[in-house]
Amino acid sequence: MTTPAAALLERIRTTQARIGIIGLGYVGLPLAVEFARAGFDVTGFDVDESKNVQINAGQSYIPDVPTAELAEVVHAGRLRATSDMARLAEMDVVDICVPTPLRKTKDPDLSYVVKAVEAAAKGLRRGQLVILESTTYPGTTDEVVQPLLEEGGLKAGVDFLLAFSPERVDPGNAQYTTRQIPKVVGGHGPDSTEVACALYGRVVASVVPVSSTRVAEMVKLLENTFRAVNIGLVNEIALMSNKMDINVWEVIDAAKTKPFGFMPFYPGPGLGGHCIPIDPFYLSWKARQSGFECRFIELAGQVNGSMPEYVVQRVADALNSVKKPINGSRVHLFGVAYKRDVNDMRESPALDVIELLVRRGAVVSYTDPWIPHVDEGHHRLSSVEFDQALAEGFDCAVITTDHVAFDYARIAQLPLVVDTRNALKGVSQPNIVRL
Ligand SMILES: NC(=O)c1ccc[n+]([C@@H]2O[C@H](COP(=O)([O-])OP(=O)(O)OC[C@H]3O[C@@H](n4cnc5c(N)ncnc54)[C@H](O)[C@@H]3O)[C@@H](O)[C@H]2O)c1
Repeated sequence: MTTPAAALLERIRTTQARIGIIGLGYVGLPLAVEFARAGFDVTGFDVDESKNVQINAGQSYIPDVPTAELAEVVHAGRLRATSDMARLAEMDVVDICVPTPLRKTKDPDLSYVVKAVEAAAKGLRRGQLVILESTTYPGTTDEVVQPLLEEGGLKAGVDFLLAFSPERVDPGNAQYTTRQIPKVVGGHGPDSTEVACALYGRVVASVVPVSSTRVAEMVKLLENTFRAVNIGLVNEIALMSNKMDINVWEVIDAAKTKPFGFMPFYPGPGLGGHCIPIDPFYLSWKARQSGFECRFIELAGQVNGSMPEYVVQRVADALNSVKKPINGSRVHLFGVAYKRDVNDMRESPALDVIELLVRRGAVVSYTDPWIPHVDEGHHRLSSVEFDQALAEGFDCAVITTDHVAFDYARIAQLPLVVDTRNALKGVSQPNIVRL
């Protein structure tokens, strides 16, 4: 008798496997398009009907997915999107890419994962492969996903296959896209690993199998904790360099000439996005359950979390140097997205900078070609064109995000600029204050 694994392997080899992706955001949509481009029949499932409508119209809303590529697979009938979760039962593979935020208490919020898994469980049938891609703490696949899927009586590794494969995509990175980034895969048993590896092997350049779902979950958290801690370290070096009147950017540029044993990280206004500020706390939360305190994570969190306050202090000092108080001054931010050339504002440190400036009485405006509106907390702002901002006038500019589109030659001529990204590298003038 053919085993479920052998049957699915054959359907993957012959490109007959029907693939369902739950969650069509920054992670899910690029992946769905890659599977469809490889010839698979792909159905995206999202609770946000506006995304489904756009996909079905062949219109991309994710900058890394060109509309032409999306339209091609939609018009060829290989990709469609729906909110009808009952259709999950028709899929051979169910790949879960939903958000994993933190609660206000910094505890993991697995509610999106649980809802998506419950939907998959309703349609679960013998021979299906379920993969979790959302970043989460080690043990989630075994302890949360597997029991929910098994409630109907089918057994993981026997009747259906189960794996964890962390998504490592870096939005806005043109050099490394979904296709080029190796995929780490940890299955619930060898069959699950083998089938999930075969699946990803069809769309990414290389696949890295590991021995369990827990290892795969931990890999992702190591990667992102590594970034958070190193950014924390370099932010602390920036704070101390300022006290010692040393240009930290020059230090990093020189240090990175060492061909081994050093990797450059850069200071900035704080962490942003749906990954680096969040994921390490998934790990520290889980470690605490085992009686382990993650000191590096907590310390990096404190340093990185203090950066928006530090930026505002530098703005206050800069204004003070031209005999202006922060209270009543007009401060114009260049960039509110959490990083260069993305339309993502989640956890953006610019939002904290705005909040802190407003609390101290500043009048804040911003320019960001990627983010037309900010609607966060008490703040409702709209991006204004550079020329309009100049016409309205402001006392201090802050480069919070170093978008490529900004006219840095003109920004450098403004009377007072606080540059948190070293976007004005090489320009040394008294009107420019570097982090
Ligand atoms: N954005 C990144 O750079 C990145 C990189 C690597 C990993 N990740 C991880 O990938 C996961 C997804 O992140 P993202 O940035 O793509 O999030 P996102 O918010 O861009 O997309 C998630 C999508 O899931 C949908 N969704 C939520 N609940 C659902 C449900 N129950 N059923 C169907 N759809 C549902 C949302 O409507 C949304 O469209 C997270 O765990 C994140 O940590 C993100």
